[in-house]
Amino acid sequence: MLQIFILVAATASVYAVTNQCFNCNGVPAQEDCDVLIQCGENESCFVRKSTQYNGKPLFESGCFSKPTCDTLNQIAGLGKREAGLTNCFECCYTGNRTHPCNNKLCGTPPSRERKCFSCSDALHPDDCETIIPCSEDSICYAGSYRHPFSHEIRYNLGCQHKDTCRVFQSLAHGHVSSSSHGDSVETSHCNDCCDDDYCNIGLCGIPKRVKPIFTYKPNNSTLRPDLEGVILVCKTEPVSNATIHWEFKGLTGSSALSNGVKVSSAPNNVNLTIFPAHQGDMGEYICVATNSVGTSTTSAFLRPK
Ligand SMILES: *[C@@H]1O[C@H](CO)[C@@H](O)[C@H](O)[C@H]1NC(C)=O
Ligand SMILES: *[C@@H]1O[C@H](CO)[C@@H](O)[C@H](O)[C@H]1NC(C)=O
Ligand SMILES: *[C@@H]1O[C@H](CO)[C@@H](O)[C@H](O)[C@H]1NC(C)=O
Ligand SMILES: *[C@@H]1O[C@H](CO)[C@@H](O)[C@H](O)[C@H]1NC(C)=O
Ligand SMILES: *[C@@H]1O[C@H](CO)[C@@H](O)[C@H](O)[C@H]1NC(C)=O
Ligand SMILES: *[C@@H]1O[C@H](CO)[C@@H](O)[C@H](O)[C@H]1NC(C)=O
Repeated sequence: MLQIFILVAATASVYAVTNQCFNCNGVPAQEDCDVLIQCGENESCFVRKSTQYNGKPLFESGCFSKPTCDTLNQIAGLGKREAGLTNCFECCYTGNRTHPCNNKLCGTPPSRERKCFSCSDALHPDDCETIIPCSEDSICYAGSYRHPFSHEIRYNLGCQHKDTCRVFQSLAHGHVSSSSHGDSVETSHCNDCCDDDYCNIGLCGIPKRVKPIFTYKPNNSTLRPDLEGVILVCKTEPVSNATIHWEFKGLTGSSALSNGVKVSSAPNNVNLTIFPAHQGDMGEYICVATNSVGTSTTSAFLRPK
């Protein structure tokens, strides 16, 4: 661990002088940008948001002359003067190695929509693997009913309007009936909601047994070797309680990665910061998520430009 730290610290100090910035040439959301570039001594990071002819926003980002940014930042109403094409232009200077500063410029607030498991008439709801975003006035829902012909218990998972959920909750236990079959308790005629991402596995007696499901997968990137880098993001929904690791060239752990690669971990989320990416860093990076039910993998290729 100490060794890794020293390597990281030593590598960081080489590039510590200046900003690292996200560098993308047109992505639908600035959060989608995962390519890093090293900016010059007198440069800052920028984000330019423009509106395309189809009405959708487009984000560009990278390095920009610091003095010019300072000047532009002082001019009010810049966007308006550019005939409505550029809606926003912002710079920042305080980037660092794992968190370049220009990932949240130009008003990209984190989305407030809930993400919920979604499956219809499922016999085995704990196998549900589909995740959908709910509209802002909806939260996660689970319901169960006894099928009229087969008499099996079936489950519906998805989004439900908050008002409807309030009704379910006020009726709560009056409409939930449980029956015992051997040692398992099945809950029929249940309607329940919860206000957390992915929380509807677990309602209505559904066991939380799901294989890890990725909520954020790393993308393929084409990079200029020694000049550009990338943050590979791998994230799973929290319900399945997965542990995540990366593999590269058939190896696992720090031995698989070159010295300059920084690993940052949080529960359900392990990122690799590869900056700058050298020729030897090119290849397939595999994110492996494992829990008590099974293993899921996803991968991204880094290719030289
Ligand atoms: C990954 O690529 C897909 C398809 O090009 C794109 O829709 C998506 O936004 C990208 N995601 C990230 C995190 O870059
Ligand atoms: C950056 O700006 C400083 C002060 O204006 C100047 O002395 C220096 O040469 C500049 N560096 C580069 C790489 O342009
Ligand atoms: C980088 O920025 C993040 C978020 O602002 C901060 O938590 C982290 O400590 C910073 N790292 C360094 C090495 O300055
Ligand atoms: C990434 O590249 C691999 C190999 O070329 C390809 O099979 C895969 O579909 C690509 N992924 C995306 C999201 O484009
Ligand atoms: C999550 O998994 C870890 C081991 O991977 C285990 O120690 C922990 O008890 C699990 N937590 C829950 C809530 O299942
Ligand atoms: C991984 O990267 C994503 C996107 O840049 C960020 O939101 C997340 O906090 C990072 N996770 C860790 C553990 O650094």
